[in-house]
Amino acid sequence: MSSSSLPISILAVVAFQLPFIHSVLSLNQTNSYLQHICIKSEGTYKPESSYESELKRHLDYSISNYLDYGFIYGFTLKLVVQKEVYIIQYKQTIILRKCPNNKGRIIWYDNCFLYISTIYTYQKIDYKHYLYLHNAKDVTGGNTKLFNKNTRDLLYKLKEIAIRKEQKPYTRDYMYATAEESLGTMKLYGMMQCTQDLSVKNCSVCLDTIIAKLPKCCNGKQGGRVLNPSCTFRYELYPFVKT
Ligand SMILES: *[C@@H]1O[C@H](CO)[C@@H](O)[C@H](O)[C@H]1NC(C)=O
Ligand SMILES: *[C@@H]1O[C@H](CO)[C@@H](O)[C@H](O)[C@H]1NC(C)=O
Repeated sequence: MSSSSLPISILAVVAFQLPFIHSVLSLNQTNSYLQHICIKSEGTYKPESSYESELKRHLDYSISNYLDYGFIYGFTLKLVVQKEVYIIQYKQTIILRKCPNNKGRIIWYDNCFLYISTIYTYQKIDYKHYLYLHNAKDVTGGNTKLFNKNTRDLLYKLKEIAIRKEQKPYTRDYMYATAEESLGTMKLYGMMQCTQDLSVKNCSVCLDTIIAKLPKCCNGKQGGRVLNPSCTFRYELYPFVKT
């Protein structure tokens, strides 16, 4: 194939890094669609163009060959997926229905996300794209301030676990943490994770950034999540991941 017949050479470069075994071992196996962002600044492609067929081919190839690793990074693709939920395999059509024709897009599911971009983001912290979700229920008992503080304490505890010195790359729990904290008769459960392309130091920076979003996302809520293409956290008053 000559380069002129390949209008999107960037897609032809398959540079997968496979440093990753898992994402969240969620108790919720439905892996529902959460939200998506169409990145308009990266432009669009024409339906049924060779760009589109390359993209489809790329997705198929990555997903069928590398899904077991849980983390895929190609030049155009960043996919973090829970190993047990082989959702993406049958979801290509759904993926491509979100932001049809956008070269850049991020699609979040409950247990994984897919990031397609023409920009090389490997090892870079994403400061642009955030998704805030919260449990609909407010904290009861009136002590919102204390609850927020407890949540923040739990998040910092999770961060210390996620960036711990002794952990090794290529392992299941690399830059991943779960923890729980007793709050009187209740328990607060938390999970935190960076994508494994980040350095541990940058993981720490990323986590600080999303922890700082806690008031924006989840003030006084019984549960909440900040999702970003580089790192994420979640807390709830009920267990939501296998530990
Ligand atoms: C799983 O997640 C979906 C969407 O977030 C939610 O509607 C459903 O109730 C959850 N199921 C369980 C068992 O938690
Ligand atoms: C850390 O993140 C910055 C900002 O995204 C990036 O430019 C830098 O290359 C990263 N450093 C490492 C060691 O990965």
